[in-house]
Order: sequence, then C-alpha cells, then structure tokens
Amino acid sequence: MHLVHTGADWHNYWLESLKNGKSIALVPTMGALHEGHLDLVRKAKLEADIVVVSIFVNPTQFNNQEDFNNYPSTIDEDLAKLRNENVDFVFIPDTETIYPEKPKLSINFGELETVLEGAFRPGHFNGVGIVVSKLFNIIKPTKAFFGQKDLQQTGIIKRLVKDLSLNIELTIVPTRREDDGLAMSSRNLRLSPAERDQALILISSLTKAKQELLAGKQWFEVQNQITRDFRETPLATLEYFELIHPDSFMVYTDFDFNQKSSICVAAYLGKIRLIDNLPIIP
Ligand code: PAF
Repeated sequence: MHLVHTGADWHNYWLESLKNGKSIALVPTMGALHEGHLDLVRKAKLEADIVVVSIFVNPTQFNNQEDFNNYPSTIDEDLAKLRNENVDFVFIPDTETIYPEKPKLSINFGELETVLEGAFRPGHFNGVGIVVSKLFNIIKPTKAFFGQKDLQQTGIIKRLVKDLSLNIELTIVPTRREDDGLAMSSRNLRLSPAERDQALILISSLTKAKQELLAGKQWFEVQNQITRDFRETPLATLEYFELIHPDSFMVYTDFDFNQKSSICVAAYLGKIRLIDNLPIIP
C-alpha cells in the first residue's frame, strides 16, 4: 500500500495506471474509518483495478468549529485497516495541498441547499462540493464510492457529476449498521455510553414511522408522534424528521404509496450531531 501526499506524487502512478488501461476507484473519507467505510472499499476493490482511499478532514465543510476540532482522528488504525483490505493507495494530503489558497469559487446547489442538511448546515455542501471536486481532479478516478447514510450528500455529488459532465461512475453503498441498528458514523466514537444508548432513537423512529406510514397513518400524525418521542428522550434534540423524494429532496407534506420516498432524520445526542435515513418507497 502506497501513501501519497500530493497531487504531484500521485501523477506518476496515475500515468502508469492509464498506460496499463487500469480503472481507478476513489473512496473519499475523512478518516476514523469503520466497517461502513470498509464496505465502500470492498465494493471498490470488486469494481476497479486500483483503489485509492483519501483521508482528509475537510475544514470547509464544517459549519461548527467545535465539531471540526473534535472530529475523531485514528490515522494509525485507519492505515492498518486499509492495509488489511489490500488498498493500493492512500491519499493523505495536508490542508496546504488541498487549499493553497482559500477558494474564491463557491458552489450553490440550488434548492438542495434549502432543505435538510442544506438548511441546517449553511455552507456545508459548498465545502463538500469543492473538496470532492478537488479530489476528483487530483485523483482522476473512473469510479467513486459514497455511503447512503449521507443521502443528501450523494444527491449533491450526483449533481456535481451531472452538471460538470464529469466522466466518473458513482456507486452508492447501503448504510452499515451496528447490531442494534445504529448507523455507523465516525462521530459515534464521541458519544458517551448514555448518549450511545439514546442514539437508538434515530433508527427506532425511522422504522416506527415506516411501519405506521405503510399501515396507512397520515404523515403529519407520524411526524408529530416522533417529535414527541424525541422530546421524551432527554439526551436527544431533534433537528428534522422529514419525508422526502430521495432524488430531488423535495419535502413531502403527505405520504403517497405511488411516489418514491425516504425519511431523513438529524438529531443531537448531547453535543454530537447524527443523521440517518430510511427508504420508504424505493
Ligand atoms: O462523507 C465524507 O466523509 C465527506 O463528506 C467527504 C465526501 C469525504 C468529503 O470531505
């Protein structure tokens, strides 16, 4: 496994791969790797000749400085896990490499900015859009792999690829969950034991809402009940619990069996913000 720190370092490897007609998969991450990330890596290994995993905690996508400062970093363990998966390259740039200057460009994803993560984390998708564009331009992958847990992020990146005519095939990999259903997330490492217990409200509210919708209950009743459930969970603070179209992210006010839908949730457990989602009508 080669560690690569700059675009110039990578360039020669890239040229060689190109000459040999090899496909290149990129798995962008911010480190603190868990089995969810490794699912992306395993899928990438099956679908491309060369797998590059990037590890870069991107400062511009954090709208909360404390969240950035406390973002978990487990680089030695990460590298050991990636070695174990026979990853070919790990791209670990420093901030100067990615941001020699503060970008003047900003990306506005239109109505995607106005709902869910876009509404609650102003500037977040601009930061994601810029860094993913940079990673795509530096690594020049033929394929890239992202997790479904960040559903709206996958929508943003699909838009980026479409709107900029990037020749990159995207694969979205299903959310990996702990045995009790909690979606795997690097931020779970920061939960206290009590917060970890109460974090189960995310998946339990999603599954309860799905059952009730499919049994014919009105969406507004379901949403109100879930809001009350969160109020009764002392360490949890609900930010949103919305029924949306999983491609346009349009927020529905009613449930319709004939329309694609997913529910997205974001909540704080203490100071840790977690998100999750569940398809209702895929
Ligand atoms: O999903 C993440 O870990 C990050 O948002 C990404 C895609 C690596 C960009 O920094």
